[in-house]
Amino acid sequence: VNHAFVAGYPIKHSRSPLIHGYWLKQFKIAGTYRAYEVTPEAFPNFMRELKDGTAGLCGGNVTIPHKEAAFRLSDRPDELSAELGAANTLWLEDGAICATNTDGRGFVANLDERAAGWDRISTAVVLGAGGASRAVTQAIRDRGVKTIHVVNRTIEKARELADRFGTPVHAHPMTALAEVMSGAGLFVNTTSLGMDGETAPMIDFSPMAREAVVTDIVYVPLKTPLLAQAEAQGFRIVDGLGMLLHQAVPGFEKWFGRRPVVDETLRQIIIRDM
Ligand code: ATR
Repeated sequence: VNHAFVAGYPIKHSRSPLIHGYWLKQFKIAGTYRAYEVTPEAFPNFMRELKDGTAGLCGGNVTIPHKEAAFRLSDRPDELSAELGAANTLWLEDGAICATNTDGRGFVANLDERAAGWDRISTAVVLGAGGASRAVTQAIRDRGVKTIHVVNRTIEKARELADRFGTPVHAHPMTALAEVMSGAGLFVNTTSLGMDGETAPMIDFSPMAREAVVTDIVYVPLKTPLLAQAEAQGFRIVDGLGMLLHQAVPGFEKWFGRRPVVDETLRQIIIRDM
């Protein structure tokens, strides 16, 4: 029986046990997937016990604040996680901890499902320059998006992304937002902008291409104020829940040997739990 984990601090809010529990039941696999609250101080020891087998775990996910440490402390990070400097999925191979990052793959898999043809665009705008933005920017670059404008309150962090991901990525301050949105085919919000009760400084999406897709990686609420605004202006919108569900697929397959499918029942289970 394989035992997998999600480790974070805090961990109460993680939906991952619900997702993997659903698939374990669906496949009738006698495995487990449990949440572990691990402080940053305790994380190196958690990784040691994963590696030497004393934890009795075959792999798992790590979430905030452990993604960078998981990458650093893993033995075999893949190219994706190495370029990001962060890992969210770990598994054991010949006594070594292997690591990857599935956030970006989850993001594009969700767009493929809910906005087929989105990748014909040439220009995307990514708002925010934190960890989530890094994964999204890498993934859409790897899908061939030619120009990616990363717009961030702190311009230095946007520049760091442009340096990391090369020529397709351009860094801009917030004041450039309207200008870079002009004609763009994809808008991705990776910030909590307008979520904390403050009257959201609404974004005018009208300069974007008519068939543009607007998506948010925030999924509580499902229709964020920003998505509601984009929809009201006639744009296709994609909520952030699918990214969460799809990023879980490669890990489950590694730990339990079956490739799960993101279905509507699973989506409803998570929505009901919100
Ligand atoms: P995550 O891992 O979810 O990406 P993060 O690494 O903390 O979280 O990044 C948060 C992002 O949201 C950053 O780009 C942050 O902007 P700064 O780099 O300037 O801090 C952005 N952000 C958060 N609150 C914001 C706000 N009220 N207005 C604009 N940007 C905001």
